[in-house]
Amino acid sequence: MSQRVLTTESGAPVADNQNSASAGVGGPLLLQDQHLLEKLARFNRERIPERVVHARGSGAYGHFEVTDDVTDFTHAEFLDTVGKRTEVFARFSTVADSLGGADAVRDPRGFALKFYTREGNYDLVGNNTPVFFVKDPVKFPDFIHSQKRDPFTGRQEPDNVWDFWGHSPEATHQVTWLMGDRGIPASYRHMDGFGSHTYQWTNSAGEAFYVKYHFKTNQGIRCLSAEQAAETAGSDPNSHQTDLLQAIERGVHPSWTLHVQLMPAAEAAGYRFNPFDLTKVWPHQDHPLRRVGRLVLDRNPDNVFAEVEQAAFSPNNFVPGIGPSPDKMLQGRLFAYADAHRYRLGVNHTLLAVNAPKATSAENYGRDGLMAANAQGRGAKNYEPNSYGGPVETGRPLSAPLPVSGHTGTHEAPSHTKDDHFFQAGELYRLMTPDEKKRLVANIAGGLSQVTRDDVIERNLAHFHAADPEYGKRVEEAVRALREG
Ligand code: HEM
Repeated sequence: MSQRVLTTESGAPVADNQNSASAGVGGPLLLQDQHLLEKLARFNRERIPERVVHARGSGAYGHFEVTDDVTDFTHAEFLDTVGKRTEVFARFSTVADSLGGADAVRDPRGFALKFYTREGNYDLVGNNTPVFFVKDPVKFPDFIHSQKRDPFTGRQEPDNVWDFWGHSPEATHQVTWLMGDRGIPASYRHMDGFGSHTYQWTNSAGEAFYVKYHFKTNQGIRCLSAEQAAETAGSDPNSHQTDLLQAIERGVHPSWTLHVQLMPAAEAAGYRFNPFDLTKVWPHQDHPLRRVGRLVLDRNPDNVFAEVEQAAFSPNNFVPGIGPSPDKMLQGRLFAYADAHRYRLGVNHTLLAVNAPKATSAENYGRDGLMAANAQGRGAKNYEPNSYGGPVETGRPLSAPLPVSGHTGTHEAPSHTKDDHFFQAGELYRLMTPDEKKRLVANIAGGLSQVTRDDVIERNLAHFHAADPEYGKRVEEAVRALREG
């Protein structure tokens, strides 16, 4: 085989890749050395802004296969036939740390899926937790600021973390979840995934259902204790990446079984919890799990930067038969993601191979912009309506309309009969075994006892007391023991 020739980016052969061109043997370098200039300039531009959250992650390709008929509830094409397969790209992530952070940390995990359906890409951008810390998107930037590095000390500060939670009683449920055994998954393969939000399905008769997604890991749940995590984060900061990559390379393909909880749209207003409150679950006795299909990951990306770093998921990428609910957090996210992608990757991020539709093509009049690579056919018009056979609208909304009433304003979310900030946090605590409770209390106390201000500690203790008096008492005693010890 003849040796391939090294070239510049415009394809000219490179004469010397070991020595720069200089004025004489020992003299300064020459501006005419195109290869050197291009190589240094290119290198300076290798990094792009990292994701503002979920910066650190791992991705893989695979497929979703329908195992059970759900056509009574949605007319989504990729779910319409038992046995139908759809290509998927998944990206799992930690939330708070930057790109160079360690994997084995106490933090929620992102669980983002892109289904390349024949009716466009459907993105389901969830977490490994069924609930979240806050329920209104206006609080999200403050929440994230309190969890990431402090602008003065440059470190994650227990004072900030707990100060925000102390002012956010609605976070008590998710804090209980995060500080419990599932707070540090052993790997991305050994955790469940949740859509977390309530979404809407619409069937072919136009009937609407609210839906929650649960991806149950078929590998079994495995978690790390705080001590195991500290050891793993130190010895292999890339532990989750290593695990996913190597499992797929070995042919051990991780899989998850998708179940949904469904609620006819008409029942939402009378439900005992606000069904659109992201800090609450729908108890399974109210809405049992119904199996839908199986997600399998079986192919590693060829290039982490091109396919994982440049992957762009947006909760606003719906397909016919699936749409948003009035969940306020979800509504905020419908804006935030594509906006982040335009900043991080540019307006033409949807043309990148990992983000472009694979089972259909994008047909619209969006044109040009930085790095436009979608040359249209000669004579294709860039306006609509036109008389030249360009793409036209269907007149069919993707999902059923959401009912609205009342006046505009900055309203608190509607409160249902069983709604308060603490009931479900207490239920979660009471479900735990004695050993799980012990570890939960120790984990909370380990963090809370590092807080420097008594009023911040008191506000947080009040939340645990409100969730369950025993829970509050045990956390209070453990914090006191650590602070006095
Ligand atoms: C109002 C609330 C939220 C806002 C404004 C928000 C915003 C963002 C932004 C800007 C990114 C970075 C996107 C990028 O640069 O590609 C992101 C990533 C992500 N968010 Fe959120 N987020 C919110 C809540 C949530 C919730 C509730 C979940 C889970 C249920 C979630 C899951 C994720 C995941 C999984 C990623 C990483 C996606 C990927 O792998 O590329 N976020 N979020």
